[in-house]
Amino acid sequence: MPTWKDVRADFPILHQQVNGKPLVYLDNGATSQKPRAVIDALVKYYERDNSNVHRGLHALSMRATDAYEGARARIAKFLNAADSSEIIFTRGTTESINIVARSWAHAHLKPGDVVLTTEMEHHSNLVPWQQAAKASGATLKYVPVLGTNAEGGLDLASLDTLLTPQVKLFAFTHISNTLGTINPVAELCRRARAVGAVTVIDAAQSIGHAPLDVQELGCDFLAFSGHKMCGPTGIGVLYGRRALLDKLAPDETGGGMVVNVTYQGATWKPAPERFEAGTPNIAGAIGLGVACDYLDGLDRAKIREHDDGLARIAYDKLSALPDIRVLGPKGDRGGLVSFAFPDVHAHDVVTFADEDGLALRGGHHCNQPLMRKLGLTSTTRASFYVYNTAEEIDVLVASMRRTLKFFRG
Ligand code: ALA
Repeated sequence: MPTWKDVRADFPILHQQVNGKPLVYLDNGATSQKPRAVIDALVKYYERDNSNVHRGLHALSMRATDAYEGARARIAKFLNAADSSEIIFTRGTTESINIVARSWAHAHLKPGDVVLTTEMEHHSNLVPWQQAAKASGATLKYVPVLGTNAEGGLDLASLDTLLTPQVKLFAFTHISNTLGTINPVAELCRRARAVGAVTVIDAAQSIGHAPLDVQELGCDFLAFSGHKMCGPTGIGVLYGRRALLDKLAPDETGGGMVVNVTYQGATWKPAPERFEAGTPNIAGAIGLGVACDYLDGLDRAKIREHDDGLARIAYDKLSALPDIRVLGPKGDRGGLVSFAFPDVHAHDVVTFADEDGLALRGGHHCNQPLMRKLGLTSTTRASFYVYNTAEEIDVLVASMRRTLKFFRG
């Protein structure tokens, strides 16, 4: 039985020194590293099969098409989608949410309607709804977060008044990229359904870290990026329930998504092709399929235990540092910890940590309204994945002590 430390051998990039120290990569919330299997799949595709999909009748095009559609089926299985036509390939979470915000919202929202989201959303699950509300005359409302460090999670009691029949769409994150909060997404979907609202889950921070079953969750749409789950950059997924996708007009038009075109107009293919105009990211999709194999091989329930376990250890050890504010819940949390010192800017913390070989993220994490609400401009974030170890948390804590000593003497 391989250990988590053995997993490190699968990731070539980890075996290097940064500033004379062994690399400790704790910026997985921004992007994960790639296992050899995914890198090899990309090389193999470009060396042997590269061709355009759905267009050619020659051998390479057929191979590329089979691999591309095979990846779609693999991802459908990964999510337990009812059908692979519910999987639309996109550039990533942001594009996936924008498709819903433009296609669905454009067709369904009108003045007097409400779009509900939460105060802990990444800009990619917030700005598109602001735009959709502006364009339609709908009102955007937010489920508040509780606590001075947002440790109380979402104010679920507020749903009694916020989730009215005027709410046409409820968009929320599964795991907050800044707080680590794990939202009760199945319950949120159930409550939204009870008032007839469509649900959109931002699964960017959860998809690679835990088992996820769209039918069990009961969501209408779910968005994620491949690059945070061992896959390549530039590929992501919008899952949509077939019944909804069939009624949606495309957001982008062009080649590949049409049935018949005349000089006067055009008719659309069904989903998923309807939403994939132009040449798609074929290699990216294939690499993402291999990433699914890789993560299932490690067992996603065990990945959750490992990543969340590291975050809890980090939470406890960091909490012992003087004057630190650690954001998010004390107990159960996703695999990341975000924190701030009152007198040291996060950019300085991250720059010092880099000298120690650590890769962290410092900034507002595309969460400016939440930062403002918490009275912060930025935090430092350590985010964990399958190849991280408890020893690396000790390197993190030692680096934080060194930084504090430098700034405070
Ligand atoms: N959304 C990514 C993050 O939180 C980039 O770091």
